[in-house]
Amino acid sequence: MTGPAPLVDRTVAAFRQSFGGDPVVVAFAPGRVNLIGDHTDYNDGFALPCALQVGTVVAIAPLDDDSVIARAIDLDGASDSFRIDIPIPLLSAGQWQNHVRGIAAGVAQFGLPLRGARLVISGDIPQGNGLSSSASLGVALALGLAALGGELAPDRQTLARIAQWAEHNYVGCACGIMDQIASAYGQPDCAVLLDCRNLEVQPVAFPRDAAIMVVPSGVARGLVDSAYNERRAQCTLAAEHYGVSALRDLDVEMLEAARHGCDEIVYRRARHVVTENARTLQAANAIEHGDLFTLGDAMRASHASLKADFEVSVPAVDALVDCLNDVIGSEGGARMTGGGFGGCVVAVVPKTRMTMINRALSGHWKRTGIPPQQVLLARPSPGATLIAV
Ligand code: GLA
Repeated sequence: MTGPAPLVDRTVAAFRQSFGGDPVVVAFAPGRVNLIGDHTDYNDGFALPCALQVGTVVAIAPLDDDSVIARAIDLDGASDSFRIDIPIPLLSAGQWQNHVRGIAAGVAQFGLPLRGARLVISGDIPQGNGLSSSASLGVALALGLAALGGELAPDRQTLARIAQWAEHNYVGCACGIMDQIASAYGQPDCAVLLDCRNLEVQPVAFPRDAAIMVVPSGVARGLVDSAYNERRAQCTLAAEHYGVSALRDLDVEMLEAARHGCDEIVYRRARHVVTENARTLQAANAIEHGDLFTLGDAMRASHASLKADFEVSVPAVDALVDCLNDVIGSEGGARMTGGGFGGCVVAVVPKTRMTMINRALSGHWKRTGIPPQQVLLARPSPGATLIAV
C-alpha cells in the first residue's frame, strides 16, 4: 500500500465505525501550492504548481439502491444522503454537501460510471489557507466513485474537469482548472508546468538543494468567491477590448498598442495576466536550471503585480512577503500564492537558509501580534492515486 498512511488508516477506521464493514475503494488526491502563475489559468495561460504531500482520502463501498450516503469525519461526522437516479439537487450556498453532490453529478455528466455508494471523507490539508482542499476532495471523490463503478483508470484530465465542473455548478466558484490539474497530475520531486490552453502538463524537476516553504498568513480569506468571479469577469472584458479569445494571446507590446479606450482597472488586470504568463515560463526555466536567483526575481515581480495590478493581496500577506524577501535576499524569493485575499505565502529558498528564515518568521509573528503559524515544508508529490480497490 502506498500513500499517506496515517490519513488512510484514520479514514478506513472511520468507515468501519460508520458503516460496519470494509471499504471497497480507497482513493487519495493531494492539495497543491502554486509556485508562480496566479490568475492565469482561466485566461488560457501558464501556471507552475506542485502537488503537496497532504490531501483528501475517500473510503467507499457500494450501496444497492440508487443513493449516496456521505460522511465528513473532519466535520464531526456530519452526513448527507441523496438519490442519484434523479437530478441531484443543490443545497443552499456554502454547505459542504454541495461538493459531494457536485462530484457525483459530474461523474455521471462526464460519462463515467456512477453507482450507489456509502463513503467517508477525511483530509489533512490545513483549511482555509488556499491550498486547494476543495480540488483535492473533488479529484479524490471522482477517482473513487469511478473506480467503484468499474472504471479503474479514468482519464486524469476528465477527473480534473469533473472537479472543476462541480465547483462551477454546485459550489458557486467560477474557478480555473489549475488546482484540479495539479491534484490529478502531480509528480514526485517536480513542479508541473501547466499550459491551460491545451492542458498539457510538463514536469519540471525541482532542485534538491532548495526548499519550498508554505507559510500561512494567519488571515482568514474573505469574500473569496465573489471577488474571484469579479476578477474573472474583468479579464473577459479585457479580452473583448483587445479582440482576442483569451488574454494568453497578448504580449506586452500588443497590450500597450491597443490600450486606448480600455478601462484603467481592466487594463491593469490584463497587464498582470500578460506579465505573469511570461514570468511563469521564465520561472520554469530557472527551476530546471537550479537558478534560484532568476526564480526569486520572478516571484517578487509576481507578488508586486498581484498586489498592484490584480489587487488580490491584503496587507498582512504583503507584510509577510516583505519579511521573507528581506531575509531571503536574492537567492530565492517569496510571494502570495493561489487566489489571494489572505491564505498562504510560498517561498523557495536554499535549504541551508531555512533556520535563518524560521528565526525571521518568529520575529514577524511577535512584531505583528499574529499567532505563530505552522510552516508546511512542501514535498512535491504524486497526483491522485487509488490506494486500495
Ligand atoms: C484559485 C482557483 C484557481 C486559480 C487560482 C489563482 O485557486 O481555484 O483556478 O485561478 O485561484 O491562480
